[in-house]
Amino acid sequence: MSTPVYGTPYGAESRHPGWPAKPGPLLVTAGAVALRPVRLRDGGEWSRIRLRDREYLEKWEPTAAGPWTDRNAGWAWPAQWASLRSLARRGQCLPFAITVDGAFAGQITIGNVIRASLRSAWVGYWVSSELAGKGVATAAVALVTDHAFGAAGLHRLEATVRPENTASLRVLAKAGYRQEGLFRRYLDVAGAWRDHYCFAITAEETGEGLADRLVAAGRATRP
Ligand SMILES: CC(C)(COP(=O)(O)OP(=O)(O)OC[C@H]1O[C@@H](n2cnc3c(N)ncnc32)[C@H](O)[C@@H]1OP(=O)(O)O)[C@@H](O)C(=O)NCCC(=O)NCCS
Repeated sequence: MSTPVYGTPYGAESRHPGWPAKPGPLLVTAGAVALRPVRLRDGGEWSRIRLRDREYLEKWEPTAAGPWTDRNAGWAWPAQWASLRSLARRGQCLPFAITVDGAFAGQITIGNVIRASLRSAWVGYWVSSELAGKGVATAAVALVTDHAFGAAGLHRLEATVRPENTASLRVLAKAGYRQEGLFRRYLDVAGAWRDHYCFAITAEETGEGLADRLVAAGRATRP
């Protein structure tokens, strides 16, 4: 009996398999959660939410040059969007906006896509504080994971989370990610080198798919 091979080898089809795409929707407490490519016109909402949510977001995000108010001003979005779009066109990233009932609500990104015999990437996300605790991030992680292992042809996804980030740890547990270890002083977050737990999932572990699993667990429904 042959061993099933998950994921698509680099060069087997498109240079950016699974992109662009619009996974979802899944219905959760907050509303209908769906993913779509980030757009230039997301800048207004992106900036409004991120300037308001500075305290909520900054302590978990990688340290970057310049003040928060500059990096998250409306005028900063076009350069970020163009950079994400360029990476997506090269097959290195899948930068999704998370929408709830059609409105921009956050971002979920599959980044550092490596193909060949690794076919691996990381996943990162944030959601507007107005929607906290209503199942949005969990639904987005399930949708993006199913997409990564389906149309995008990947085999493994990793997520790294600070041990203090209770909400994000809960999201990964609910979505079905496995804790693999602790990376010491892994990432410069909020101005210091922070320990991170490494969570991961491979295609073989997803069975019928994480979105269907959320539905079966009563955490989401299909429209
Ligand atoms: C982490 C984040 C994306 C979660 O988004 P969300 O849409 O609220 O997530 P969900 O509603 O799907 O799930 C959150 C879970 O954490 C729980 N939770 C939230 N805050 C919590 C806290 N302070 N302590 C304990 N549990 C908490 C919620 O109750 C919920 O679990 P439940 O369904 O069992 O009740 C959001 O908080 C965020 O954007 N944080 C800032 C950025 C960030 O941390 N990104 C991830 C970096 S690894």
